[in-house]
Amino acid sequence: MQSNDMLEVARLALEGKTSDVRLFLAKLVRKARKEDPEYATKLEELLKTDPSRSNSVLRRSQPTPEDFQQRKEPPFFRIAHDKTESVPLLDSALETQLQQILMERKHADELEGKGLKPASSIIFQGPPGVGKTMTANWLSQQLGLPLYVLDLTAVMSSLLGRTGSNLRTVLDYAKSHPCVLFLDEIDAIAKKRSDESDVGELKRLVNILLQEIENWPHQGLLIAATNHPELVDPALWRRFDLDVTFQLPSEGNIKKAIVEFLGPDLDQFSHLVDLLADSQKGESYSNIKRTVSRLRKLKLINPEEFDSVYFKYLIPNLETLSRQEKISLAVKLVSEFSFPKQRAAKALGVSRDTIRKKLDEVNT
Ligand SMILES: Nc1ncnc2c1ncn2[C@@H]1O[C@H](COP(=O)(O)OP(=O)(O)OP(=O)(O)O)[C@@H](O)[C@H]1O
Ligand SMILES: [Mg+2]
Repeated sequence: MQSNDMLEVARLALEGKTSDVRLFLAKLVRKARKEDPEYATKLEELLKTDPSRSNSVLRRSQPTPEDFQQRKEPPFFRIAHDKTESVPLLDSALETQLQQILMERKHADELEGKGLKPASSIIFQGPPGVGKTMTANWLSQQLGLPLYVLDLTAVMSSLLGRTGSNLRTVLDYAKSHPCVLFLDEIDAIAKKRSDESDVGELKRLVNILLQEIENWPHQGLLIAATNHPELVDPALWRRFDLDVTFQLPSEGNIKKAIVEFLGPDLDQFSHLVDLLADSQKGESYSNIKRTVSRLRKLKLINPEEFDSVYFKYLIPNLETLSRQEKISLAVKLVSEFSFPKQRAAKALGVSRDTIRKKLDEVNT
């Protein structure tokens, strides 16, 4: 476990947020499956023990069994609409798809007149950190509907035995009034099918979902999300009205994201935007956001050192570059990113003369 993760677990545990601890651990299980399967299995086993103390399948702090029984409505975690949350950056094909979802809602009556219905069940697929959750939130805001989030990894990990009935309660509640229900990590259900001990329970879950997806009321919206489309049961998949694919940002959107994430500091970083954009190719929006935040903090805390340190952030293997590679990089900075020679020379530890000579060679 990384120290950040440990800190988060400790914090949640000390705040008494048992269900959040379980949820977080369930995320760690998923993360660890590739890197350390043995650890993942052990952690998962732990999560299966004593589910009685945390029998809510929903993201909400400290639900107790009494809590659950006393309420008529299940204890949803309701995400308040955060008006300051910015609009997700999306490629144009995706934007068109989302606009159509909104338009179909607006024209629901006309559609119905012709026997058509607005899309009410959608599956989002795509790598981590590209805006699936953010877009579900945005859509719910555009539709003016409350958003409820249900993490199916948490359902699977902690609630076997009661999962079916809890899922039923959740779905019934979400169907009882217009809302957006977001089923995150829906592959958690398909993923475990190979685990024989769970098969009965899983079949029940999948069957419940199969029925619901097809008949989801069109005043509401059911959105499922997955990073692993290949693991989702095809029978489940084809029941969604719409399949929306999220991709890593294009070069254009990387730059837009950097500009947006720099916010009020854009002026101070304008000379670095192109270089930053180049260094973030192939990264997700959330990784780009993290890099940009680190740089902004670094600049604020340590402005004098900033010039000599930020390269280490942008080029993690800087230390291991050979002298020739450093020279080429310095030349690239000057010729492609309009860096002053002095700055490039200092950052890479080569002399200005060397850069000048190399540039002359390239230009002749
Ligand atoms: N398309 C985007 N436009 C702008 N910011 C984004 C975008 N995608 C992600 N981000 C930033 O990264 C954060 C995390 O994104 P989000 O939670 O939506 O990713 P996700 O696709 O749901 O990932 P996961 O599969 O891990 O759940 C967002 O809160 C936002 O700050
Ligand atoms: Mg997400």
